[in-house]
Amino acid sequence: MNIRIELSKNPKPKPKIDDLAFGKNFSDHMFVMDYSPEKGWYDPRIIPYGPISVDPATTSLHYGQLIFEGLKAYKSEDGRLLLFRPHENAARMNISAERMCMPSVDPALFIGAIEKLVALEKDWIPNSPGTALYIRPFIMATDPMLGVTPSSGYRLVIITGPTGPYFKGGMAPVRIFAEDEHVRAVKGGTGFAKCAGNYAGSMKSQFNAKEKGFNQVLWLDAIHRKYIEECGAMNVFFIIDGIAVTPELGTVLDGVTRKSVVEILKSWGILVEERPIAIDELAAACAAGKVGEAFCTGTAAVISPIGELQWGEKTMRLSSGEIGAISQKLHDELVGVQIGARPDTRGWTHKVPLQD
Ligand SMILES: Cc1ncc(COP(=O)(O)O)c(C=O)c1O
Repeated sequence: MNIRIELSKNPKPKPKIDDLAFGKNFSDHMFVMDYSPEKGWYDPRIIPYGPISVDPATTSLHYGQLIFEGLKAYKSEDGRLLLFRPHENAARMNISAERMCMPSVDPALFIGAIEKLVALEKDWIPNSPGTALYIRPFIMATDPMLGVTPSSGYRLVIITGPTGPYFKGGMAPVRIFAEDEHVRAVKGGTGFAKCAGNYAGSMKSQFNAKEKGFNQVLWLDAIHRKYIEECGAMNVFFIIDGIAVTPELGTVLDGVTRKSVVEILKSWGILVEERPIAIDELAAACAAGKVGEAFCTGTAAVISPIGELQWGEKTMRLSSGEIGAISQKLHDELVGVQIGARPDTRGWTHKVPLQD
C-alpha cells in the first residue's frame, strides 16, 4: 500500500505524563482513506491531525452509520513498538461493518495503516508504567443524503493519542451498579458491533450511576432483565467456586482482552465457562461465600477488579473489596506481554516496523 504522507508544519508539544487523561490528547497526524463502490478503498494518506469537513446531511451524522475500534501501541524498554493482537481488531471492525451495511477493509491494509501511523508518531508513545498510545480507527458514512439507506461513500480515519494509567493511584476495586431500567443490547440488535449508537444509548445509565457514586454500569439482558451481559464498555468475569464464569457471546462485544483472558486462564488450568449468568445466581453464590473475585476486562483498563455490586437494594461485596489474586496475576501477565517485558509465548504482540 502506497501511503501519501503530508507532515505537520506545527508539531504540538507532548503533554506531561500526569496530564494524560484518556482521549483528550491527540498526536500530530492522522490516517485517512476513502471508499467508493467504483474504486473500493482509495487514496490512503497520512495528513496533519485536524477537523474533518463534512456535508451537514452526511449519513453518519444523522443515522449513526459509524463504526470504530480501539487498541494500543506500547514502547518496550528496548525501544520496540508493539501492538497487541491487532488482527483481532481488524476482524472485529469487519464484523461491525457487515452488521452496519458498510464495506469491509482488508486486514493487511488496516494493520499496514496503523503501522505507518504509529511509526511516524513513535515519539508520542509514552513509556512510563500504565501508559500507551491509544489508537482509534473509525469508518464513517459520507454520503450527503437524508434517506435512511446505507451510504455509498465511506471514510476510514485513524487517530492516535497518548494515554495514561486507567487507575491514577494504581489498580483498585470499583463499585458497579446493576442497571435495571435501561438496556444496552438485545438479541438481533447491534450489541456485538462497535457502532456509535450503542455508546450514545449507554450514556444516560452511565451518567445516572456516576451520580449515585458508582464507577460503572452492569448491563442486564433486555428480556428477563436478569442475565448479566457486560460492564460499561468492558466484559466481565466472576470466579465462582474456583471456575471463571463469563457471559457467552451474542449481545456483548467480543473483547480482545476477554478472549485473551479466557486463553490465559485455560492455560493456567482454571476452568472457564462462557454461559448465561443470572444476577440472582450471582447474589446467591455471593451470599454463600462462593464468589472468590470478579473483574472487568478491556483495552483501556486491561483488568478492573470489582469490589462491590449494587443490584436494587442488594449490595454484593466481591473480592472482599480488594484486588483478587487472579485479577492481579492476569493483569501482570497481560501488561507484561503487551509492553514486551514478559515472553510472548502465544504470538500476541505485533512489532511495528520503523520507518525506512
Ligand atoms: C461494549 C464493550 N465491551 C467490551 C469491550 C472490551 O473490548 P476490548 O477488550 O477489545 O477492549 C469494549 C471496548 O472496546 C466495549 O466497548
